[in-house]
Amino acid sequence: MNGKTQFEMLLSPFYIGKMRLKNRIIKTAAEMNTHDPVDAHMNQRTIDYVEAVAKGGAGMVILWNAYLDYPLGARMPDGLRIDSDKYIPGFIKLAEAVHKYDCKLSVQMMHAGPWCPASLAGRPPIAASVMQEEVYGFLSDETAEATLSEIEDIQEKFVKAGERLKQAGVDHLEIHCGTQHLGNTFMSRHWNKRTDQYGPQSLENRARFMVEILQKMKARLGNDYPIGVLYNAAEYGIDDGITAAEGQEFGRLFEAAGADNLHPKADGIGPLYSLINWPEAVCYPEVPDPLPKELDGSKSGAGFWVPLAALVKKAVKIPVIATAGINAEMGERILREGKADFIGMTRRLLADPDLPNKVAEERLDDIAPCTRCLSCIEAIHTNYIPGVPGKSFCRINASLAKEGEYEIKPADKKKKVMVVGGGPAGMEAARVAALRGHDVTLYEKEHYLGGSVPVAATIKGLDIEDLPALVRYLYTQITKLGVKINLGKEVNRTLIEKIKPDVLILATGGLYSVPDIPGIDSPKVVKAADLNRTLKNFLRFFSPRLLIWATKIWMPIGKNVVIIGGGIHGLQTAVFLVKRGRKVTVVETAEKMGKMVIENHKVRLFGWLEQKGVTLYPGVKYEEITERGLTIITKEGEKKTLEADTILPALPMLPDTELMTRMKGTAPEIYQIGDCGDPALIIDAIGDGSRIGREI
Ligand SMILES: Cc1cc2nc3c(=O)[nH]c(=O)nc-3n(C[C@H](O)[C@H](O)[C@H](O)COP(=O)(O)O)c2cc1C
Ligand code: SF4
Repeated sequence: MNGKTQFEMLLSPFYIGKMRLKNRIIKTAAEMNTHDPVDAHMNQRTIDYVEAVAKGGAGMVILWNAYLDYPLGARMPDGLRIDSDKYIPGFIKLAEAVHKYDCKLSVQMMHAGPWCPASLAGRPPIAASVMQEEVYGFLSDETAEATLSEIEDIQEKFVKAGERLKQAGVDHLEIHCGTQHLGNTFMSRHWNKRTDQYGPQSLENRARFMVEILQKMKARLGNDYPIGVLYNAAEYGIDDGITAAEGQEFGRLFEAAGADNLHPKADGIGPLYSLINWPEAVCYPEVPDPLPKELDGSKSGAGFWVPLAALVKKAVKIPVIATAGINAEMGERILREGKADFIGMTRRLLADPDLPNKVAEERLDDIAPCTRCLSCIEAIHTNYIPGVPGKSFCRINASLAKEGEYEIKPADKKKKVMVVGGGPAGMEAARVAALRGHDVTLYEKEHYLGGSVPVAATIKGLDIEDLPALVRYLYTQITKLGVKINLGKEVNRTLIEKIKPDVLILATGGLYSVPDIPGIDSPKVVKAADLNRTLKNFLRFFSPRLLIWATKIWMPIGKNVVIIGGGIHGLQTAVFLVKRGRKVTVVETAEKMGKMVIENHKVRLFGWLEQKGVTLYPGVKYEEITERGLTIITKEGEKKTLEADTILPALPMLPDTELMTRMKGTAPEIYQIGDCGDPALIIDAIGDGSRIGREI
């Protein structure tokens, strides 16, 4: 089957109301923090980002919510606004940029409700009822019950903002009453304790606030102007959440009120389900068992809410968007099976905005894969630090949300570039340098590419993060770009002096650290360097998938394991060993465990480890390693020997501080990138490679 037939449904046009979309791929809303921190007008950086998605071939792109009621309806002090006519010109520019590519533009509309901090609102945040609840790990300020006149006022603000966006040339609006925004506080029995016509006495009453908004918008914007609704079609983790049957009924009510499409999502409260927006966070380290039947855990979160979307689709005649972890192949299947009419993608298109065009051109190998790592959420939201130069927002796409600044331009002068090290940093540097027209040769001392990634893939497993896909993608790209690849070749000064590169890029990886503990040379201790060497030797002949399977049968690691290091390396190793039946204890000198672990993964990880009987000792001092195991002084000052058959140091890598000195004078330009310069995560390594590739 060729690519065009393979993706026939995904690439086929379809309608939302009377609006025709050229294909079924909708870029779902994702707040990217590209706005100006002080000016709430549309800015060029946001336009560049949205335009890249439109250019990449999506049928429609939904911009994240612009504040329609400021400050009461805002989530943060800064952000795009559409609560005044003065913001219309910015949206005109955005619409013009998107329309150049036969792509439709939608804008999400929501009122933050409990998400608005009282300090920003200058009053208690507004909700259906008085309440205080954890929203995404933060306790909201206590809300005030919306009065009838406030309800009317906010509804009017939705309509006015809709009129402005329509006037700007925006093609579609997506009303967002999901998560725990204002609209949801009316729809969910968990929040709504009112006694009036907007109360929880009936589903109609719970839907009334949103239904009236829809009706008013339809009346004022025109019946043909398409409006969709994003809502919680089911809520988990609480007894009084929206049930899937209610989700179907809400869908019917929205359809009757004039909605042109539905975008049902699952939501939740509490440690298990609060992060269901990114289902991998729910499915890591293990898919919960049992799962509600409307959730599909068979692919570790990919397509998690599809059964729910299918249920809603059964209840209505208007088109339904299915979202969450869906790639092109899965999207095509969902459409063919009649489970949805459109496929919503956020992260696939953050990783590669050109995905739709590449699918249409049958260039599947060229799609930069989203490995569902959640680094984007971490970089854009959880640990967002404005204006950190060089910090990437996506693991694989370093130019995400910096499209203008990171545009790849041909090099002024073609240079002979020698890249040493075929990990993510080296491969990305080679890719970008070759794209710019440089003559690039890459050397890797192992017999395969990827640096530490194949080992990491073996430890992490492939259920959620398909790390080999990342290596395959970079390998395919550099091969197509004509980068000369030398495997199994260790580079030394003599070789560099013989080749005489104009630019030498050192991406040789970090150094393994050995903790300074008396007895560290005991046969009980499996040093990281030795373990990695063993795994790398196996990886020369076997794929990570085979190795993952083989390690479930046998590993030279005892039953009782103490891991030294409670950061990302140690905790991932703990998960790996627990899944292979080992009894694990983790010790860490820092006061807190989990350094560099994605915040959204921590939510489940620590509970899971505890449930599996893993003991964590943060804040310890190491005393010695003996025949019995590791002796520590606990945080409380108690001397304790942790019995172990095997002791595994799993500490962060160290930079190779002497590398530049060793290579000094071998080339006119020398750069050190990735772990050998500053050991960090794959997102940082690729960001580094991309930066150097663009700068040379
Ligand atoms: C960085 C980021 C920001 C997001 N912001 C929003 C948002 O503003 N509104 C929204 O409805 N969903 C938001 N989402 C959720 C996505 O629209 C989508 O539902 C989710 O990422 C799952 O789909 P995916 O697997 O295709 O990414 C965001 C997602 C990401 C990754
Ligand atoms: S950061 Fe990770 S999860 Fe987010 S889009 Fe990129 S690859 Fe996907």
